[in-house]
Amino acid sequence: ESGIQYRALITDKIDERLINKLSEMGVAVDYKPGIQHEELLKIVENYDILVVRSRTKVTREVIDRGASLKIIARAGVGLDNIDVDYALKRGLTIVNSPNAATYSAAELTLSLMLIISRNLHLHLIDVKNGKWSKGLYHGIELRGKTLGVVGFGRIGRAVANYAKALGMRILATDVVDISRYAEELGASVVSLTELLSRSDVVTLHVALNKETYHMLNDDRLKLIKDNAIIVNTSRGEVIDTKALLNHLDRLWGVGLDVLEHEPPREDWEIKLIQHPKVVVTPHIGAETIDAQGRIVDELVFNIQEALERVRNHG
Ligand code: MLT
Repeated sequence: ESGIQYRALITDKIDERLINKLSEMGVAVDYKPGIQHEELLKIVENYDILVVRSRTKVTREVIDRGASLKIIARAGVGLDNIDVDYALKRGLTIVNSPNAATYSAAELTLSLMLIISRNLHLHLIDVKNGKWSKGLYHGIELRGKTLGVVGFGRIGRAVANYAKALGMRILATDVVDISRYAEELGASVVSLTELLSRSDVVTLHVALNKETYHMLNDDRLKLIKDNAIIVNTSRGEVIDTKALLNHLDRLWGVGLDVLEHEPPREDWEIKLIQHPKVVVTPHIGAETIDAQGRIVDELVFNIQEALERVRNHG
């Protein structure tokens, strides 16, 4: 019945409008951004809905302790921080906001491509430091070059569409049938191997799972052409970072919005960040005012729908 008051726990920093909207729906919200795992295990039993971003790891243990949990809501796209199989087995509903940040992520990807192709990162630092670096770092044009899009989902396709406007040729690969989309966007569907060996720019837009973990390992990195650009705005673990370090000399540059550890902590990650050919941003693909607003709307809509199902069946 609608008289039941559901309780939600939000464990990551989130647009506060989400709290207001959930409260308006009659959900009692506790907002504990940054809560530690041990504390979460202690209190999760008090809640029907758990709302997370990527920081909170929703492990089997969290799910087991959450005896009243009905819904896990991920404010974002990637579900790699949630034990999805186990949650579904326990009868929980998982909702996310898969559409909200598509163009923000695609625009950031394009930004990283442009920054690296023109060595903007080096010029910007020099000029800030009072050095007029004209002629010091040459760039390359993207026009006429080949972009390889690994993962032709919403974000990959949006990137392809933008790249077309730059006059790039598009190659695409995915584990699902993408022929319809490829045709719409004028992209050629090829194998991952062919894509890596033919692309001037390789951009990654895959979900993180067992198949994509270290997908760009040393063997695959070897296939990538000299002077190519690699951009990763998906998940850090998709690239074997240590292997990537050995290829930096022959690549044009690398743009990463994601790392294997966020924030970075290992020596090899610091080495990567400090390298002049590497541009790293702190996982900001979805961090626009526009996307954050849409994430709230999309997530609230999906939570509402899930709650209706719980009310009707549970
Ligand atoms: C996502 O999967 O939604 C993005 O990587 C952004 C985030 O993790 O917050």
